[in-house]
Amino acid sequence: MAGIGILGFGSYVPSRVMTNDDWAELLDTDDEWITSRSGIKERRFADDSESTLDLAAAAAEQAISDAGLTADDLDEIIVATDTPEVYTPDTAAHLQHRLGAGEVTAFDLGGSGCAGFVLALDIAKTRVQATPKKVLVVGVELISRLMDWTDRSTAVLFGDGAGAVVIGEGDLVKAELLSFDAGTDGQYSDILGLETGGTRRPFSLEEAQKDGHHEIAMNGREVFRQAVRRMAASSEIVLERAGRRKDEVALVIPHQANLRIIDAVRHKLGLDEDLVYVNVDRYGNTGSATVPLAMSEAHHEGRIKPGDLVVLTAFGAGFHWSSAVLQF
Ligand SMILES: CC(C)(COP(=O)(O)OP(=O)(O)OC[C@H]1O[C@@H](n2cnc3c(N)ncnc32)[C@H](O)[C@@H]1OP(=O)(O)O)[C@@H](O)C(=O)NCCC(=O)NCCS
Repeated sequence: MAGIGILGFGSYVPSRVMTNDDWAELLDTDDEWITSRSGIKERRFADDSESTLDLAAAAAEQAISDAGLTADDLDEIIVATDTPEVYTPDTAAHLQHRLGAGEVTAFDLGGSGCAGFVLALDIAKTRVQATPKKVLVVGVELISRLMDWTDRSTAVLFGDGAGAVVIGEGDLVKAELLSFDAGTDGQYSDILGLETGGTRRPFSLEEAQKDGHHEIAMNGREVFRQAVRRMAASSEIVLERAGRRKDEVALVIPHQANLRIIDAVRHKLGLDEDLVYVNVDRYGNTGSATVPLAMSEAHHEGRIKPGDLVVLTAFGAGFHWSSAVLQF
């Protein structure tokens, strides 16, 4: 296959399973509420000994090996995450060292929430277009350690995980990146986010005492509305940019935040249920990791076959959205 695209896929989820019943032991919630509102049955939480870097490295190593490469072959590393290893420097610097890669360009794409990975794919493609190279792109999130475990309206939605791909060009490409769309509507920056720690609301003893650094601000209903509207419209736009029709699509891999959001997007696009990949029931919302994790799973399970046209679409805090069309 010619063109620029994915050479290898990888993913990692921690082994610790947290079910809805486990949450019901800690919070005033139950399996029925969580399942009916979100479609989530269980999620994975990192062990105390694991950090963002461990999750990222495990997914990256699988993607590099799946591409038939070694870390030495990488020319660039991009990590999409809002739950970095440390505040600064970025997770990409830690990952470069952990993988034993060369002294390559490496940077994080942070702050775009769950839309980060698909945006990073777009950036990786243009980097390869400018100079032929191999770019590792990782989406990773360890949300369980930073969220508020006492807030039932957000805590039950999230999970930890990582996904990774290697982008390059030539005969070994497994999925060509055909088109992209990404956008931002900053007037909705307050419907989803974590404010404490920035200059507007610096981290302080007072913030720590009221647990401000764990406080995810979320207007669930507005996030829901924006997510459906933006993912559906953006999916149409990328298909048009690729010069392809909806009836040619073999699989849509949407951001896995909530089954009801996924179903609403599917209805808007007029697609059958079997054309949309869902694993939110098993992993919850793993932020920027959901799309690469789902894509890697779908690929390794044989759910995606050579010749398939696949649409990725995501949304996240910002409000940001991003979509891509891939030809396997
Ligand atoms: C969060 C979300 C699941 C809530 O669903 P919803 O249908 O809007 O919820 P409802 O308004 O019907 O219910 C809210 C009620 O449930 C309660 N509730 C919230 N979390 C609960 C939980 N885990 N268990 C039981 N009850 C809960 C609330 O306190 C509220 O009670 P009240 O009406 O007495 O105040 C939904 O809005 C959503 O998925 N939004 C998108 C969120 C998202 O995807 N965020 C991440 C984006 S990357």
